[in-house]
Amino acid sequence: MANVLVTGGAGYIGSHACKALKSAGFTPVTFDNLCTGWKDAVKFGPFEQGDLLDRARLDGVFAKYSPVAVMHFAALSQVGESMQKPGKYWHNNVTGSLNLIEATIAAGVKQFVFSSTCATYGDQDNVVLDENSLQHPINAYGASKRAIEDMLKDFQASDGLEHVIFRYFNVAGADPDAEVGEFHQPETHLIPLILDAIDEKRDALTIFGTDYDTPDGTCIRDYVHVCDLVDAHVLGVKWLQSNKGSRIFNLGTGSGFSVRDVVNQAHHVTNKPVPIVEGDRRPGDCTKLVSGSTRAEQELGWTPTRSNMKQMILDAWRWHNAEKYSE
Ligand code: UFG
Repeated sequence: MANVLVTGGAGYIGSHACKALKSAGFTPVTFDNLCTGWKDAVKFGPFEQGDLLDRARLDGVFAKYSPVAVMHFAALSQVGESMQKPGKYWHNNVTGSLNLIEATIAAGVKQFVFSSTCATYGDQDNVVLDENSLQHPINAYGASKRAIEDMLKDFQASDGLEHVIFRYFNVAGADPDAEVGEFHQPETHLIPLILDAIDEKRDALTIFGTDYDTPDGTCIRDYVHVCDLVDAHVLGVKWLQSNKGSRIFNLGTGSGFSVRDVVNQAHHVTNKPVPIVEGDRRPGDCTKLVSGSTRAEQELGWTPTRSNMKQMILDAWRWHNAEKYSE
């Protein structure tokens, strides 16, 4: 079975990607420093603990496994934190990715799948966000991801590094078998926080801003199920195996949900009240991020099957009630 190096394979999205790669006949090799990931989440292939900033360690892992492709998930990804500690984001995300890209090229690997984000688009009123939209990130997280996109373009020109970039909208849900799921400490993402509030693990969900220019005053996002998202990554590897060049794909559904919409849906799915508090805006948050592209469906044959809000909350709720990782 061909090896695929998965950076961040112990994290939320990376661990689901490892499961999908294994089902598709690849061996996922996880490279993760466990700063936000979990050793217990590495269930589908070998684990190599290491840091992207450690080039010698990366070179050793490439030599040991001779991967056919790299899937790069490892990154710091909290919008709010990136506004308070931008240096951390530029150093870890951008310098770490540069190291990885150079190690990939040195190892002779030419196929690279990169986890980017709709946060690279920033706040653009009434603009349909497709892959050709201008990128105006308004937080350091989005800016760091855009810089890595630029870097990939340069290394394609200089060294022929063919790549697929996925710009994710908001990833939600969990593996329906609850083998892996979303588990951050501290948690900052909307759906797990709502479920914690429902379960009295926290007093209430604070809604960050109720005065946005949206129908109910709260931010609007496009939510995509993590299992659908990682299926697109496997299709991305196959695309690189049978096409020349590089391609960018948005991964979203095209449907927008406000924070209040998500709260209401969680109430219906769990049949339990959601305690909420209305708070201030969180710096760095865009008003509305909704995908306006069907390129992934058309060109990769991507067919999301679980990305409806009810299913995403149901799967997240099942995971919420399952046994989590301890290390
Ligand atoms: N929100 C709240 N209260 C909370 C947490 C979140 O109201 O306690 C709101 C946020 O303000 C935002 C929405 O819920 O409007 C979603 O917030 P998340 O923190 O769950 O997700 P973000 O939109 O901030 O960020 C996520 C990923 C990023 C990605 C981005 C694209 O973490 O990696 O989606 O929108 F870039």
